[in-house]
Amino acid sequence: MFNFQSGEFPSTRLRRMRYSDFSRRLMRETSLSADNLIYPMFVIEGQSRRQTVDSMPGIERVSVDELVREAESLVELGIPALALFPVTDPAAKSNDGKEAWNPEGLAQRAVRAVKKAVPELGVITDVALDPYTSHGQDGITDASGYVANDITVEALVKQALSHAEAGADVVAPSDMMDGRIGAIREALELGGHVNTRILAYAAKYASNFYSPFRDAVGSAANLGKGNKYNYQMDPANTNEALREVALDLQEGADMVMIKPGLPYLDIVRRVKDTFGAPTFVYQVSGEYAMQMAAFRNGWLDERAIVLETLMSIRRAGADGILTYFAKKAAAWLKEAR
Ligand code: PBG
Repeated sequence: MFNFQSGEFPSTRLRRMRYSDFSRRLMRETSLSADNLIYPMFVIEGQSRRQTVDSMPGIERVSVDELVREAESLVELGIPALALFPVTDPAAKSNDGKEAWNPEGLAQRAVRAVKKAVPELGVITDVALDPYTSHGQDGITDASGYVANDITVEALVKQALSHAEAGADVVAPSDMMDGRIGAIREALELGGHVNTRILAYAAKYASNFYSPFRDAVGSAANLGKGNKYNYQMDPANTNEALREVALDLQEGADMVMIKPGLPYLDIVRRVKDTFGAPTFVYQVSGEYAMQMAAFRNGWLDERAIVLETLMSIRRAGADGILTYFAKKAAAWLKEAR
């Protein structure tokens, strides 16, 4: 039964290294720390305002002054960056989403306030038109309702430039139009924003895991029964994700992202192995909601499950993770040290 000569014991006992905490620690291949976390936040107009999000228990939309206080606590927790998602006043929404590049828009004001109060915190902005369009699509639609690629790219360039001008460190196009990374990169270079980084949502799938987010930013009602199948990727595809990532890197992306997270870890591994570029994962709103539902029912242990899923995303090859659990996870990781 055993392959050692005497046949009395196994030649290798993998359990020996698992015997003590110290040897488990010594052979641990993957690490997880606050350095790997990015906190996505929803911003609303007003003063001292906080609103709960029904489908995302524990997550709030906050006004800019509250956002600044949150930003300070992120630095204390050792979290390197936050990702901003503004909630647009319905009256400011239009077919072309032009509020997106208003220099006095909510996103631009939020960026300026955070960078002024907490300059060391990285600020990442979302580049896409869906919070600003009356139809809830990420781009400008033609007469048939089709999201027209090239005029949308022109709008995204204006939006990205307005974010860079407000002081955003990283612009993150999440729209999946063709050619937008190259166009944004060129405009940033010409505009003197040489060091503004681009985090490309390179492989963004047409996922049903985004619905709580659409409630949170208030685009669900605008989108109605619409979908994003003709620009976001088919969950059935892998090779196409590699082509998307290759193009975005060629066009000048500094970082690439795969989204959603846990159901797409095979993509993360292939992307990391193929390109070796800084690779990020968005553990999206539906993944958050699903886990929170189980925690609230007492079916799964919150701390253990959150840390296990984040470690799994790291193990698959992610350098960093956008997660609504970032604050909790950073606090737990701090405690554990
Ligand atoms: C919009 C955008 C979405 C998310 C981030 N940016 C939703 C969508 O594409 O419909 C989803 C994030 C999440 O679900 O947490 N461009």
